[in-house]
Amino acid sequence: MDRRHFLTLGALAAMTAARGAGTSTGTGPMLMRRIPSSGELLPAIGLGTSGPFEVGKDESARAPLREVLQGFFDGGATLIDTSPMYSTAEEVLGELLTPDQQARAFMATKVWTPGSGGAAGQKGIEQMQRSESLLKHPRIELMQVHNLVDLDAHLKTLRRWKEEGRIKYLGVTHYTTSSYPDLMAIIQREKLDFVQFNYSVGTREAEKRLLPLCADKGVAVIVNRAFEDGNLFTKVRGKELPTWAADFGAKSWAQVFLKFVLANPAVTCVIPATGKLRNLLDNLGAGSGPLPDAKHREKIVAALR
Ligand SMILES: NC(=O)c1ccc[n+]([C@@H]2O[C@H](COP(=O)([O-])OP(=O)(O)OC[C@H]3O[C@@H](n4cnc5c(N)ncnc54)[C@H](OP(=O)(O)O)[C@@H]3O)[C@@H](O)[C@H]2O)c1
Repeated sequence: MDRRHFLTLGALAAMTAARGAGTSTGTGPMLMRRIPSSGELLPAIGLGTSGPFEVGKDESARAPLREVLQGFFDGGATLIDTSPMYSTAEEVLGELLTPDQQARAFMATKVWTPGSGGAAGQKGIEQMQRSESLLKHPRIELMQVHNLVDLDAHLKTLRRWKEEGRIKYLGVTHYTTSSYPDLMAIIQREKLDFVQFNYSVGTREAEKRLLPLCADKGVAVIVNRAFEDGNLFTKVRGKELPTWAADFGAKSWAQVFLKFVLANPAVTCVIPATGKLRNLLDNLGAGSGPLPDAKHREKIVAALR
């Protein structure tokens, strides 16, 4: 048995064990959402890499990530979000992804050039070339301007790269509610394929204007920090999962939080970060079955108070 086959079997065994322990991996097919600018369908659950994938060369820290990646693709997901800001994450992904996984991946990375001192355009090009080489990915699907840093310089390059077919989509990201006015102005002004920002049951500001604007302008939305970097789990520590969670097929708090985000039709994909197979399978489980209706969403919000 080759190593890859061995790892796949290991992931499947762990999947079965996780199911036995009550963690759901979902029952139906993965929810797909359309990218408005192209019509392409994208699995609604993706994977964040900030933190868990910043492990460098340490083989013992890499082993669980191999399982996470295998479980991720076996579960029908494809979008992986990373960035040169996340220390070794791009390099780790490039070295762990198998050729088959590379072929299936929808790779989203970023350009991030703080302190570029007026040379942002060239620095951004060099950084993106480095990302291409580290990720070993034939064509990066989505390149995003990280936290809007040096936006105008990078958008110019990204438009050219898109025309040349070097990337498929372009977008911008942020992670704070204070960035929303800037994000909205950019969405009004520029033609973007994707916008990535924070939205969760604990931080719902995006529901008021930003998410409706994205829907109106036909911009795909990637949601980051759906667990508020894990803090939402602290809020429900010791709280039983309400029986009504079963009405929309949620078998864990993680699935409640992710289904809450996906219930907003403007959301294209949510990218919870994890380095653990068990949590990955739990998160994938939120991508199938029904979503909470307005009454259930009110109950979810109330449960977090
Ligand atoms: N400006 C930007 O562009 C920007 C900013 C922020 C984030 N992002 C992107 O968005 C991704 C997600 O955001 P985030 O990493 O800040 O936080 P997050 O996804 O809200 O939370 C991640 C935390 O939740 C835990 N977790 C994951 N699944 C779980 C489960 N089923 N049960 C219990 N705990 C679980 C993880 O721990 P374990 O590893 O132990 O599972 C980790 O500590 C990032 O990784 C990054 O790719 C982008």
